[in-house]
Amino acid sequence: MSPFLLTRLLAEDAMDAALRADVLHGLTAQPKTLPPKWFYDAHGSDLFEQITELPEYYPTRAEREILLGRSGEIAAALPARTLIELGSGSSDKTRHLLAALTSLESYVPVDVSESALAQAGEGLVKEFPGLAVHGLIADFTAGMSLPDTPGPRLLAFLGGTIGNLLPAERAAFLASVRALLSPGDALLLGTDLVKDEGVLVRAYDDAAGVTAAFNKNVLTVVDRELGADFDPAAFDHVALWDAEREWIEMRLRSRADQTVKIPALDLVVHFAAGEELRTEVSAKFRKEGVRTELAAAGLDLSHWWTDSEGRFALSLSTAR
Ligand code: SAH
Ligand code: TRP
Repeated sequence: MSPFLLTRLLAEDAMDAALRADVLHGLTAQPKTLPPKWFYDAHGSDLFEQITELPEYYPTRAEREILLGRSGEIAAALPARTLIELGSGSSDKTRHLLAALTSLESYVPVDVSESALAQAGEGLVKEFPGLAVHGLIADFTAGMSLPDTPGPRLLAFLGGTIGNLLPAERAAFLASVRALLSPGDALLLGTDLVKDEGVLVRAYDDAAGVTAAFNKNVLTVVDRELGADFDPAAFDHVALWDAEREWIEMRLRSRADQTVKIPALDLVVHFAAGEELRTEVSAKFRKEGVRTELAAAGLDLSHWWTDSEGRFALSLSTAR
């Protein structure tokens, strides 16, 4: 059995500095914001796995359906020797792709969540003996270098996570992805599609309250890491559809007038009753928009697959 290697590209102190900078900047901005990567401590990663099994949260099932049906076509289009996956989480759906890519030698999952990577890696080396699995703890928005593994390379970015980046961040991200590839290498991108508002809002505001707990977990992370005294129960989870920008916006709404102390930053933050903190956007896409954004980064769309209900798309694009 090949060993499972886990490398930390993101030093603990750099991560701590980034969290401080994000919290200081975000909570003194108007309106207040916090970036989504801080949702994913071990508890947040567990909550996300629970979200993927909720009846209202269709993206995971829809993307799995496409991967199950199309992994053979993907492997035929690009017989990759290395699969890199950004924001790999549990790598659960990826197993369909790993099974189909018969020329594969290396799998490089990249995630900020060490716990998710460790758990996924242990399982994968057992299931795919002979595959070299090299996990990277890294921030995919911060410019990363990859291990020197053989080409051709397929880079997967699944789960609709690209929708969690703002449009300008998306353009920079796609350009950085293109820079990691050589001409002929490919990007496999999962994008959730624009659809009925009710379906979308329910996917981000489930009846069991798991998404609410996930959203509030970011406050718990700030409490633990920066000694803050956020009371998660003093905020309500809000998910709303912005029809103009075609994204779901997740917010935390202060239930009362309150102040929160963040000792590590020497900061006291005031929330008016009803004031909202934006924690995440989840953009929804259309085919032509995806094609245009990819092309701007030097990636030519070659395949577009959707699930049987047309809710979610996987696209394959080739580096120019
Ligand atoms: N690909 C999986 C998980 C999606 S959830 C799926 O489709 O189910 C998003 C994942 O991206 C989480 O595992 C989270 O830890 C990771 N993530 C979010 N922001 C990140 C960043 N800036 N850098 C690296 N990983 C990130
Ligand atoms: N990539 C996922 C998405 O946009 C992440 C996600 C799902 C999420 N549900 C969430 C992020 C709730 C924050 C809150 O669908």
